[in-house]
Amino acid sequence: MTAMIYPTTNPSATETMIVARGEGPYIFDQAGKRYLEGMAGLWCTSLGYGNEEVIETATRQMRELSFSHMFSGKTHPAAIELADKLAAMVPIDNAQVFLGNSGSDANDTLVKLIRYYAVASGQPQRTKIIAREKGYHGVTVASAALTGLVPNHMHFQLPFDALGVLRTGAPHYYRCANEGESQAEFVARRAVELENLILAEGPDTIAAMIAEPVNGAGGVIVPPEGYFEAVQAVLDRYGILLWDDEVICGFGRLGTDFGATRLNMRPKMMACAKALSSAYVPVSAAIVSGDIAEAIAGPASELGVFGHGYTYSGHPLGCAVAAKVIDIYQRDRLFEHAAVIGAYLQTKLESFLDHPLVGEVSGMGMLGALELVADKATKRPFEGMRVGQYCAAAAEQNGLIVRPLGGNRIALCPPLIILEEHVDEIIDKLGRALDSTLDQVATGALA
Ligand SMILES: Cc1ncc(COP(=O)(O)O)c(C=O)c1O
Repeated sequence: MTAMIYPTTNPSATETMIVARGEGPYIFDQAGKRYLEGMAGLWCTSLGYGNEEVIETATRQMRELSFSHMFSGKTHPAAIELADKLAAMVPIDNAQVFLGNSGSDANDTLVKLIRYYAVASGQPQRTKIIAREKGYHGVTVASAALTGLVPNHMHFQLPFDALGVLRTGAPHYYRCANEGESQAEFVARRAVELENLILAEGPDTIAAMIAEPVNGAGGVIVPPEGYFEAVQAVLDRYGILLWDDEVICGFGRLGTDFGATRLNMRPKMMACAKALSSAYVPVSAAIVSGDIAEAIAGPASELGVFGHGYTYSGHPLGCAVAAKVIDIYQRDRLFEHAAVIGAYLQTKLESFLDHPLVGEVSGMGMLGALELVADKATKRPFEGMRVGQYCAAAAEQNGLIVRPLGGNRIALCPPLIILEEHVDEIIDKLGRALDSTLDQVATGALA
């Protein structure tokens, strides 16, 4: 054990792997063993490892200007370039960009912007936020309260009420549909539940609803067709803003620029991080539409300051790297590439539905998951997480990194740069891990 408190780790466990280096879509441990990074780190290393153009850009930026803060309107060319690039590409009118360092802090920033906006729009009571079960929006106090996963709440006494967090159901048809309910009926029910929640709380107390296009950490949940159209119609009826958490789905993950494009969302606010810089350096963006940005200028000038900003907001290194990464995505048409390879990945993943352990295969673009179940006919889940954890460990033995999520779901989110041969490698190694897991289940070793 080192002197480390590890993030999102069982504190009684010891180190599991020391990653020594990366190259393209592969990482290598200290013993030199190679692994295909089927999770792009934590859903983020979209360009893979060791991209010389990015390294060169980072080096040049550090030489030129290693730090400049952005308080009191001070700025620098790399930040201006990044903000303009983002504003030009997001599906939000006259977008304005606030820069930070992580997905969590981008969502925290948006919580504060919502509160400013409530005052500015003459509805100071309009601060509640609807979030969904199984949503993941980060782990800072505010973003963890928006997250809808129990392990991120337990023992933290999060201020749900003070933050006005309201919870609505997940768009998970496989797990949440009623007996005999069609996908269309399930979507309609979710929309009715949302509307009932809004009416019960008072529509004019609710500012926004936060949603990932495809839920990532909650299990790679792809909403049924028509889900966001139905949600948007309800929100529009009550003037509630759609807040799109693109931290995983943004920048090509679903085979389109943003998840919103693929799923017909019409957001007014957006959080981006992870693939924004392909995780070469930490950088995030909290983005709002021009009318929101304009409105908050009112209360901010009354106070003389918009009292929110991080030392590293607009850090030159993050800005230069992110701008370069976006250039590479666009020049190399990586979002289109992700659509093509993603379709191939999805077809291959679907073949696992024939496996005795696999109850659901879900995915879109370069994002996928399998749910391992004790009984496919009844969807009976395995107790605890041991089966999924065993399967992920078996994949790792085979040289493939996947991620076990709650509910014994195995997630995949490979770098966007992978080719068909890498998909074949993923499928082969994951298939062997599933077979090995089945053997263990059969012996009762994982009960
Ligand atoms: C959808 C989503 N939002 C927010 C976050 C939080 O990002 P970070 O871990 O950079 O704080 C994550 C992280 O996985 C995420 O998946």
